[in-house]
Amino acid sequence: MNNTIVSLLLALGLAGAAQAAGDPAAGQAKAVVCGACHGGDGNSALANFPKLAGQGERYLLKQMQDIKSGARPVVEMTGMLEPLSEQDMADVAAYFASRKMSVGAADAALVERGQALFRGGKLAEGMPACTGCHSPDGAGIATAGYPHLGGQHAAYIAKQLTAFREGERSNDGDAMIMRDIAAKLSNKDIEAVSSYVQGLH
Ligand code: HEC
Ligand code: HEC
Repeated sequence: MNNTIVSLLLALGLAGAAQAAGDPAAGQAKAVVCGACHGGDGNSALANFPKLAGQGERYLLKQMQDIKSGARPVVEMTGMLEPLSEQDMADVAAYFASRKMSVGAADAALVERGQALFRGGKLAEGMPACTGCHSPDGAGIATAGYPHLGGQHAAYIAKQLTAFREGERSNDGDAMIMRDIAAKLSNKDIEAVSSYVQGLH
């Protein structure tokens, strides 16, 4: 390997490390504008705005990159991430990840069906349980970029599952993990599992 390639790889490695190290304190100041919809501490009041508090840092950064590039269109956020550099976005992700997601309540009438889907999947149709990737308590796997779901607004969760199913949200990668799963969920399944997730902690 020649020296140019070695220094290029080193530079990429260092850039990656710098990007991974978001600074939560710096991020708090840069996140002020986000609070109007997502809540100052990342726990939004309205169900159509996702809670960002306690969400995994890696997942948050990826979503910001996808929203900024248009890979995940969010009309409400048009142009909003334009002024933010990669480092700014890493800092904002670190800030929201350092907060704690508040927990809502599940509809008692939907718990049984929601829990069966979340914990057991639909084996006959080859759909895995959600717990494998989003963990039994809904905390997700932050290092893998698998999002935290426990406590998230049911209406937001339901909108995402529907969007994955209809192919309107397609930033789950070439493996189409979430599009394949959502394809096996009926409207009633989505309603139940979303309600269950809102109360999960
Ligand atoms: C005008 C309202 C508004 C503002 C201000 C706003 N957002 Fe959003 N954001 C939304 C909406 C609405 C969605 C969800 C869209 C959907 O349903 O897919 C969203 C989604 C997101 C998501 C994806 C969350 C997830 O769980 O996948 C992230 C990350 C995000 N916003 C970050 C930010 C950041 C960072 C800022 C500030 C720089 C910001 N938003 C400002 C409305 C807003
Ligand atoms: C094999 C792993 C895997 C399984 C099993 C899985 N998910 Fe996911 N899920 C993911 C990944 C990865 C993402 C993030 C995709 C991205 O980067 O945009 C995701 C994203 C989501 C989101 C969007 C979160 C947000 O904040 O916008 C929801 C909602 C969701 N999953 C619900 C479920 C439910 C409900 C189940 C079970 C029926 C399930 N998932 C099963 C891997 C999985």
